[in-house]
Amino acid sequence: MQLNEQQTKWAMETLERVSHKLEKVSERSKNKIPYTTVDGIHDDWSGREKIGWWTNGFWGGMMWQMYALTGKEFYKEIAQDNEKKLDAVLMDYDKLDHDNGFKWLPTAVADYRMTGNKASRNRGLLAAANLAGRYNSAGRFIRAWNNWDGEHDRTGWAIIDCMMNLPLLYWASEELKDPRFAQIAVSHANTARDCFVRGDGSVNHIVSFDPAGGGMIESFGGQGYAVGSSWTRGQSWGLYGFTLSYLHTGDTSFLETAERIAGYFMANIPESGLIPVDFRQPADVSLEDSTAAAIAACGLIELSRQKVGESGSIYLNAALKMLTALTEKSFNWNEDEDNLLTKCTAAYHDKEHEFSIIYGDYYFLEAMMKLAGRELFIW
Ligand code: GLY
Repeated sequence: MQLNEQQTKWAMETLERVSHKLEKVSERSKNKIPYTTVDGIHDDWSGREKIGWWTNGFWGGMMWQMYALTGKEFYKEIAQDNEKKLDAVLMDYDKLDHDNGFKWLPTAVADYRMTGNKASRNRGLLAAANLAGRYNSAGRFIRAWNNWDGEHDRTGWAIIDCMMNLPLLYWASEELKDPRFAQIAVSHANTARDCFVRGDGSVNHIVSFDPAGGGMIESFGGQGYAVGSSWTRGQSWGLYGFTLSYLHTGDTSFLETAERIAGYFMANIPESGLIPVDFRQPADVSLEDSTAAAIAACGLIELSRQKVGESGSIYLNAALKMLTALTEKSFNWNEDEDNLLTKCTAAYHDKEHEFSIIYGDYYFLEAMMKLAGRELFIW
């Protein structure tokens, strides 16, 4: 499904403005791995204490997208610096988890795809092997977090977010000509389709399984409002994640699942085009999460590419509605400050809400690159 002339003009002009700002931001933040901003300036998570954080691949991913757009070498150098800093994580078992895809697809695997760098291939394959090692064959799921907080036994926990990490396994199978990795990805996606996605297209964030016997036990509200609610970023991970599993496997049950989530998501987009933290949060709560909008837009654009005619344009128009709303109402166009999106929220019950978060900026950039037909394929 194609953009019309007016939409194309908007997409090209917006990407040009974003690119102009990111040139300045990348110069200021070239030695950092940012997560958020403090008084408009990126913080830095590259130190020993914070390097394992799940978002630490997105800055590198933004730099690779900018390199793909402009060909300017300094973007490549910043991305490769981010990738090398993550080696401290690859050598620390307790810092590795289901989010290996978020860390190494936008860094090492992107580098390998762009440059053929063998050290990057090695990093990607080590990350994939560790991710595959988290597979629970009784429950047919990839285990989510480690038990780092001492509060919960998470041995049997899986989360919808992991759908976005499966492409690391699809890549490893393709690279090694060895189906084992993809087999694990498909098995996890089948379980997520059956146990996470509800009949109406909304999704659970966390599902626990009996780690020895394998049966599903219960679901948790996770980063959303409550059990049975509808954490919007979780909907977005599911929407984009199942679309990607379809693109990698051709399994139409994944496409149907992605479309069911997309239908639910689109039916709940408010008139404003801005996305709440949870579609089922109390009516008097107005908290937003711009990251959910940007991620869902990426998934919807990909879905629109799979469809001709009306259903394709419905997906594309929904993505455009959210992206336009972000640029008009939840965007920091000040070039002396480092973030793109405003009003991002990590979790409903956190103390802090509606601040800048690096993966919101990453997926916004990816969505705009997709609209312009210029994106580097990361997932
Ligand atoms: N993957 C964790 C989150 O979306 O916050």
